[in-house]
Amino acid sequence: MYVCICNALKCSQFREAAASGAQDVTSAFKACGAKPRCGRCFEDAASVIEQAMPTLAALPAAVPAE
Ligand code: FES
Repeated sequence: MYVCICNALKCSQFREAAASGAQDVTSAFKACGAKPRCGRCFEDAASVIEQAMPTLAALPAAVPAE
């Protein structure tokens, strides 16, 4: 499904950007090689990014110091 009509960016592209470290709409656009235009997609894009970001629970546990 398209999230950003101006740049023809799909949900999957925003999810991939988030998985690659994008934490907000601006950095996701940059990761997709696109520039924000009208702004109508920002709320939906932010929602997709938030849902796709790796959670702290998914990070490996700290290694105990010796
Ligand atoms: S719909 Fe995304 S910038 Fe216009």
